[in-house]
Amino acid sequence: MNFPIVRHRRLRQSAAIRGMVRETVLTVDDLIQPIFVTYGKGVKNEISSMPGVFHFSLDTLEEEVKEIVDLGIPAVLLFGIPETKDSVGTSAYAEDGIVQEATRIIKSRYPDLLVVADTCLCEFTDHGHCGMVHTFERDGHVCGDVMNDESLELLVKTAVSQARAGADIIAPSNMMDGFVQAIRAGLDEAGYSHVPIMSYSVKYASSFYGPFREAADSAPQFGDRKTYQMDPANAREALREAESDVLEGADMLMVKPALAFMDILRMLRDQFDLPLVAYNVSGEYSMVKAAAQQGWINERAIVTEMLLGMKRAGADIIITYFAKDMARWLREKQ
Ligand code: PBG
Repeated sequence: MNFPIVRHRRLRQSAAIRGMVRETVLTVDDLIQPIFVTYGKGVKNEISSMPGVFHFSLDTLEEEVKEIVDLGIPAVLLFGIPETKDSVGTSAYAEDGIVQEATRIIKSRYPDLLVVADTCLCEFTDHGHCGMVHTFERDGHVCGDVMNDESLELLVKTAVSQARAGADIIAPSNMMDGFVQAIRAGLDEAGYSHVPIMSYSVKYASSFYGPFREAADSAPQFGDRKTYQMDPANAREALREAESDVLEGADMLMVKPALAFMDILRMLRDQFDLPLVAYNVSGEYSMVKAAAQQGWINERAIVTEMLLGMKRAGADIIITYFAKDMARWLREKQ
């Protein structure tokens, strides 16, 4: 019972029939747009390594948020660039911190737009690591250990202050062990038991974050993130990371980056029933933008195929710097 009885092309004859048998759909409801908020006034500066992505100050933010809302995108992910940094990331959990202030502004103007707050210290510490660091000298070089349990306290303070400012979802990206449990307990104790945690469960130590570190001014000043972010060679370890987060009370799981880790998305989809998020990171964005600017690829077709691939691999939600573009393209189609 095969060819010529079976003919796969029968279901590919027209746009109508292809539409009818299509297995995966991408909609604007799937998308989260990241935003970089910075200190100062009147700032709208394009990030040189991320064409089309800007730094906004608190007073220019509204125009960008209005555009996002008008396009029907349901959520934004906030990253903050503070005016001052110190060794313990004080500005990450200040009541008037940049992310907290931006959250208040957005929620007061657009209460229905979901604000997702990235909970990490690397943009706020002078050493650029995601936690508290114990530094020492070895052979004339500055070295440091990122201290796990001591960092949890600061991350809890950050998450609680973000929730207090009105963040709808807390998204911890720091990769300390036990961060979900610590933040869940902290949120509950402060009266935010209704605020979900979108955990960056499986976050690899990836070179695809390069442009983001320029955007967020968060490159580590010594060493790298390999003692807390995962080795890109490992897949089974991803299941262990995700399992910990499920047991600690995470509400959503994330895989990051997305493109080089589609197998991990599929593994998590098959193993766990929580909503799954794919982070289409800065390097993935910039590569496509650069090639499109050269006229080497069709940007719209490539982005559609990439994001569809992430959904097909198992993602329910996609964080992408292309969210606004994609929302526009999805509209044009109709
Ligand atoms: C903070 C954080 C990073 C990204 C999101 N949150 C950078 C990092 O871990 O170095 C990367 C996002 C991107 O590349 O788009 N820890």
